[in-house]
Order: sequence, then structure tokens, then C-alpha cells
Amino acid sequence: RILIIDFGSQVTQLIARRVREAGVYCEITPFNLAEETFATFGAKGVILSGGPASVADIGTPRAPQAVFDAGIPVLGICYGQMTMAEQLGGSVESGHHREFGRADLNVVAPSRLFTGVWEDKSKNIVWMSHGDRIVRMPPGFRIVGVSENAPFAAIADESRHYYGLMFHPEVVHTPQGGKLLQNFVRDICGCSGDWSMAAYRDEAIEKIRKQVGKGRVICGLSGGVDSSVAAVLLHEAIGDQLTCVFVDQGLMRKAEAEEVVGLFRGHYNIPLVHVDASDMFLNALSGVEDPEVKRKTIGRLFIDVFEDEARKIGGADFLAQGTLYPDVIESVSFSGGPSVTIKSHHNVGGLPERMNMKLVEPLRELFKDEVRALGRELGLPESFVGRHPFPGPGLAIRCPGDITREKLEILRQADAIYLDEIRKAGLYDEIWQAFAVLLPVKTVGVMGDGRTYEYVLALRAVTSVDGMTADFYPFDMNFLGRAATRIINEVRGVNRVVYDVTSKPPGTIEWE
Ligand code: XMP
Repeated sequence: RILIIDFGSQVTQLIARRVREAGVYCEITPFNLAEETFATFGAKGVILSGGPASVADIGTPRAPQAVFDAGIPVLGICYGQMTMAEQLGGSVESGHHREFGRADLNVVAPSRLFTGVWEDKSKNIVWMSHGDRIVRMPPGFRIVGVSENAPFAAIADESRHYYGLMFHPEVVHTPQGGKLLQNFVRDICGCSGDWSMAAYRDEAIEKIRKQVGKGRVICGLSGGVDSSVAAVLLHEAIGDQLTCVFVDQGLMRKAEAEEVVGLFRGHYNIPLVHVDASDMFLNALSGVEDPEVKRKTIGRLFIDVFEDEARKIGGADFLAQGTLYPDVIESVSFSGGPSVTIKSHHNVGGLPERMNMKLVEPLRELFKDEVRALGRELGLPESFVGRHPFPGPGLAIRCPGDITREKLEILRQADAIYLDEIRKAGLYDEIWQAFAVLLPVKTVGVMGDGRTYEYVLALRAVTSVDGMTADFYPFDMNFLGRAATRIINEVRGVNRVVYDVTSKPPGTIEWE
């Protein structure tokens, strides 16, 4: 197992992810707890992450001395390289100019780290992001890779198995970085590489049992992949101590409620409370046009309903949530100041304090595709695991302006046809998210020999890795034509279809 010491880089979780991809178990510990964790962890190797501080400044964090005394391999990345160099007797200065982005790395000496990674010695693409620079090498080290602006881009002490990289091997912009990290954790640290999602599942189950004990857990199901995977995992761990609550707010897609209820009650036999709260939600939303008011209204009602249901089952000690790692990043402000609220995300965030519940978040360390892999491991059907994300406020934020039952029904039908066409064309899995938006605008058309005056429907489809940035999907025009014709022919109330070609940023994925 590998211990990753986190110095605050935004991409530390990506290091963990690459290590998992190499089939090796790892954990991340913040630098201020590293000494304690390291003492009992039994690491076969340590990775020191990047971070925003400068080693040249007084009082900035360091790796525990015990890491270097243990005689195990250490890989320092970016800030990690700098602190390692300084702690082992080298010296580091604040750089005069910072270097960000793509750089070409030239291999200048052989290193075990590079075995099978770079066939060519020169012009290997790496992704730099650093400010400090080494001015004197620590004893025992030599330079193994250089770039134009970084004479110490890669350094190594092969006899002690210490390696330092100024670039980030964990990001996708360093194309061979995954292989490089694999070399470190497997060949250099000697980890076997047989760890898998199956092992993750077993460990996660153990952790849940330890955390929950004999307590009662309540889990909100949205029908999305994350909450479903969390619920199934929890059910494996604690069985009937778990109650799932599915609140139908009247803002679901076509047949969605039936699918979720069928899967949980029918397939898994997991206790599920199905609350039909559509009247309550739609009445409260009637006449509301402002997107933030919509989101807040939905969030507030959701908490009310959930609280009611929790009371009915006699209360719960824990609230389970399918929070993923990107949700954690988006909600943390790294600048130290409060981050701007782009949209109030709908969740049950305020509930734990109000009801005195603790949180169980078994997916907190995972990325979306890892959650999908875990879902497959748990036997969730492929049609469920591969689902596009769907926002908590549902169709309410895909219906700009006032929401009515009539509009929601038009949107449901059109959305189902659009997704059906996408599936038929074999494109569903290539797209991160695709959906229809019913605009509060009517335009004139002609159908048969008559004049029509009906709504405009917008189609959206994006590619993305994590939902934080996105690009519009470049459909073939014939596909768009086919989908538009079917929608206009089959859905009463729509006479014009447009396609949204905005990326994120500057747009967001949802329209509200
Ligand atoms: P935006 O529209 O902000 O969305 O680009 C990014 C991703 O998050 C989803 N989304 C939500 N998910 N509750 C959720 O659970 C929400 O309130 C919410 N708003 C947006 C959106 O569908 C996309 O995948």
C-alpha cells in the first residue's frame, strides 16, 4: 500500500486515482496528520503531492522525517520534489518566473522510473505547474530529465529509490504519466498490482460497518447513479439498518420513478419509501420564474419531506449521501475566500444539523467513472450504471420561466424522443449528458396548411470528464434533423427545435 501526503494540490486525488488504476491500494493523508498516519500505515512507498506554498518561505509544510528514515521509496511531485530536495540537504529558491502548462521533457540519464515510458529520449510531453526551483542538488541525486525552463525537471537517487518530478505525472496532459506512476508503485515500491474495485468494495463495506455500528441510516435516492451505488453498497454493508427514501417531486423524466422503484424494490429488495410529493412541489413552484428561487424552493421542500419521512421511521443516526470527489472540490474554496455561488446545488446539506444526524459518504474519494465501475461490481444493471447525470431539481431547471404541468409533459415527451434517437444512433455512451430544454418562447410555424404558434425546444448534449468543464457534442446535422423532425411530428406543443453549441465555461451545462 502507498501513502500519499497531501500538501494541498488541487490534483492530489488524481494521484490516488492513477495509483488505483495501477492496481495498488492507497490513501491520502493531509500533511499535518502525516506523521501520525505514517507511523501505523505500513506504507511500501510514499508520494509527496504538489501544493500552493513555496518551500523557500518560512513555516511552510514538510514531509515527516520518519518517511526518509524508513528506507522506503519516495516520489516527490512539484512541491513534494522541492521539500524532498530541501529536507535531504539540497537548496531551493523561489523561482523568478512561474512555469505552467505543456513542456517538452528530455531524458538525460536512465532511471527505473522511465522504464518503458518514453521510447524517445527527447520531446516527451509533460505538464508543468511550479514556482520554486532547485539551486543545489541534495547529495546522492542526479538529474535524469530536463526541460527548457526546468534543469531539474526530473531527479533521482536510484540507490535510495528517491525520485523528484517538477511536472505532474497524474494529470491527463502528461500522456505517459500513468505508466510512470505505475512504475513507481509496482516496480520500485514492489506493490503487486492486484488491487481492484472488488477490493475497494470490500474495504468500503468494512469502513461503513465500522462507522455506523448498530445505527440507523437513511439515504435519499434521486434515481441517479451516485445515490443508487451508495444505496446498494450500504445495503450490502448494513442490510436492514438502511432505509431509502425516494421523493418524487413531479420533476422526473418519463418513466423515471417507475424505473427506480422497480430496481430497488424488485431487483434488490431494498426497503424503499416512495413519496409522491408532486402536488406539493408543483404548487409551490407555480409562478416562480427566477432560477435561484426555484432551486431554493425545491431544496427547502425536499428537506421538509425528507425530515417527515425520517421521523416516520423513528429517526435515523446517519444520513447517507452519494457525494463524489468532484462535488467535494467544487464546494471547497482553495483561494481561502468564499467562492462565488454559480448555482445553489440542491442537496440535503442542511438536514444533518437540523436532525442531529451524522453523514456517511462512501463515494467521497471516487470519480464518476470509478463510481460506475463500483456499480458494476455491485451488480447494478448496465442501463443504470451508464446513465447520464440528472440534476436534483430535475426538469424544473430545464423549463426556464414559469413551470406548469402542461409544459413539463411536453418536455418529458420531447426529451424521451431525443434520448431514444441518441441511443439508436449508438451515441449515448459517448456523451456526458444530453437533454431537452423547453423554452418559454412561442414562434410561428406552418404544419399541413395551417399556421401554428407553439413552443421552441432546445437540445443540449455535452462531452465532459467531470462536469466542471464541458464542450458541446458535435452531432452530425442529419442526426439533428432526424431528432427535430420526430419531436415536432410527435409532440404537440413544439414547432421549432434548436441546438445549443455553447461550451462550459462560459455557459453551464444546465440552462438554469
Ligand atoms: P452545471 O449546470 O452547473 O452542472 O454546469 C454541472 C453538472 O451538475 C449537474 N447539476 C446538479 N446536480 N444538483 C445536482 O445533483 C443540482 O442542483 C445540480 N445542478 C446541476 C448538472 O446536471 C451537470 O451534470
